Amino acid sequence: MADPVQDRMEIEFDTVAGWTAEAVAELGDDHAEPAACRGSASPAGLDWLARRCGLRPGDLLADVGGGIGGPAARARRTTGAAPVVIDPMPAACRAATSMFGLPAVVGGGDALPLRTASVPVCWCLGVLCTLGDKAALLAEVHRILHPGGALGLLVFTADEPRPPGAPEGNVFPTRTAVHELLAMSGFAGTAEVALTELPASPARWRQRIAAVEGVLARDHGADPRFAAAQDQSRRVGGLIDDGVVVGRLFHAVAR
Ligand SMILES: C[S@@+](CC[C@H](N)C(=O)[O-])C[C@H]1O[C@@H](n2cnc3c(N)ncnc32)[C@H](O)[C@@H]1O
Repeated sequence: MADPVQDRMEIEFDTVAGWTAEAVAELGDDHAEPAACRGSASPAGLDWLARRCGLRPGDLLADVGGGIGGPAARARRTTGAAPVVIDPMPAACRAATSMFGLPAVVGGGDALPLRTASVPVCWCLGVLCTLGDKAALLAEVHRILHPGGALGLLVFTADEPRPPGAPEGNVFPTRTAVHELLAMSGFAGTAEVALTELPASPARWRQRIAAVEGVLARDHGADPRFAAAQDQSRRVGGLIDDGVVVGRLFHAVAR
């Protein structure tokens, strides 16, 4: 039987991924990063994480749940790191490769397709709040990281797991629960910042996102899957605007 939550996730993270790549092909490469970071941190947030994780040219960066590759592409451009995107959604992986030329592997956080202790830096942005079993994902991330390796997390936190109006499939941890999960999974937390404490996205970045969304609405506005995806992102956007949900970045080190 169809699982409505899984269906919603596939629409949001797979169907829309393919549509986004088509919109960027029309609008131009300068729209790719903003388009592909729509579910992520702001540019200032991504740069904060890159600095905290000490990313340097050539460093392998595993972006787990990396979506269509916007954060990984920005990290490569700004630091020279060598990212690989891992995501369970095949269209997201195809989009990461077609838009940015990134290596991308279809895989989920329950069994990451990477060897134990093979990666110096791992990111996992906006993923934990979409999962029930957050500890299993962090255990896998810990397995693939070098001892002493760096973890960058973006987690949308809230005081209750499903505040009224929460999007389907989201289970928000509290800020304290993130610290507990990190400690339990073998990480030492070293730094944390709320996205609201960092500079907002520049106007040009927001204009490019608006242009991409205009093309998506023009081409898919009559498709019920577009309405479902819009509903998901409006709900989370509303909770963030009301301060009920807060995006937080965490830097931690594998013990
Ligand atoms: C909100 S999006 C964030 C995408 C990207 N990290 C970013 O910051 O732009 C959440 C991503 O988590 C992925 N995801 C969902 N379940 C996952 C799992 N079990 N393991 C790894 N990734 C997962 C989704 O396919 C989606 O691409």
